[in-house]
Amino acid sequence: MTTLLTNIGELTTNAPGAGPSAGSGAPDSGDSVGTLHEAAVLIDGDRIAWVGAAAGAPPADEIVDAAGRAVIPGFVDSHSHLVFGGDRAVEFEERMAGRKYAAGGIRSTVAATRAATDDELRARVRGFLDEMLAQGTTTVEIKSGYGLSVADEERLVRLAAEVTPEVTFLGAHVVPAEYADRGDEYVDLVIGPMLDACAPHARWIDVFCETGAFTVAQSRRVLEAGIARGLAPRVHASQLGPGEGVALAVELGAASVDHGTYLTDEDVALLAASDTVLTLLPGVEFSTRQPYPDARRLIDAGVTVALACDTNPGSSFTSSMPFCIAVAVRDMGMTPAEAVWAATAGGARALRRDDIGIIAPGARADLVLLDAPTRIHLAYRPGVPLVARVWKDGVAV
Ligand code: NIG
Ligand code: FE
Repeated sequence: MTTLLTNIGELTTNAPGAGPSAGSGAPDSGDSVGTLHEAAVLIDGDRIAWVGAAAGAPPADEIVDAAGRAVIPGFVDSHSHLVFGGDRAVEFEERMAGRKYAAGGIRSTVAATRAATDDELRARVRGFLDEMLAQGTTTVEIKSGYGLSVADEERLVRLAAEVTPEVTFLGAHVVPAEYADRGDEYVDLVIGPMLDACAPHARWIDVFCETGAFTVAQSRRVLEAGIARGLAPRVHASQLGPGEGVALAVELGAASVDHGTYLTDEDVALLAASDTVLTLLPGVEFSTRQPYPDARRLIDAGVTVALACDTNPGSSFTSSMPFCIAVAVRDMGMTPAEAVWAATAGGARALRRDDIGIIAPGARADLVLLDAPTRIHLAYRPGVPLVARVWKDGVAV
């Protein structure tokens, strides 16, 4: 079954070579996101088969007329904590009235998560995924981290693995109450029996390297143990203040270091010289009233930047990539093209994937048709539901 999506007014391919090689669709000058106008995309099964000028498009079983609107790759949300019980609306309300965000709030979600059944957690996750898909997100990474016992962490990675291949074991999210003042003993548990139980369900290992969570020495133990078990590292760092988490992430070849609200010049230089993506999470600064990180400084220094929602009940309870794009453009110095790239191809880089975040032959057919003529409208019309139609693995959803 083939589908031709045609009469696309603005097609963001994220394949800079797409323009000239794809026929008469004129690429924008200096365009780094491979923009085509009056373009078409042929979907064959779950893959993209052809991209080019609408005038030269091949025949197809089904034709979809984009009516001059914009098409972008499906969003790749490379950072979420979707498996949890309860919420923390009251904590948010208090924070808006002046209370400071601290890592310790995680523990209240741990209690609610442990109390929830598998089916309750499953239903919750599926609800979030539906909500995300409706907003254009076609790939989601999911972390554990609200179980913090061997049985509960195993449950969370297992439930996450039911819905995505991008599962991250985050047993080292915070030290649970029953290990208060025994952080090193808790790390022994994480890198011993907990890792044994969770590694079979996970692709990634993560740690919250931050004051109030884990020290850099503890974080190193967690990441090295995960790497030894075949998991690839990613790190939460520099969310609440500057620290050594970025240097550790770069040293260990992490795919991504996430948050980066407080980066030193040294951190920026290390990231720029590395393959580690810096994943910015604008929903966190929005919901914790912290200063927005300066994405302009990072991009100008040569750092690869991704955008993600960090959907979780504490620091960021949005699941909207368009919202994150709008904030990144309004308050973090990104251009609309950079923000859309970071939310698609950037997320793919953060997950070390080359089959998503791009509209090119051979890539997965994950696409978003916007109810707008340009990608700029994602930032220009904040809060407006501009996602008209989504294809995930070639299927219109
Ligand atoms: O990414 N930073 C650590 N973990 C989450 C917050 C978790 C919570 O507050 O429940 C985050 O912001
Ligand atoms: Fe997080």
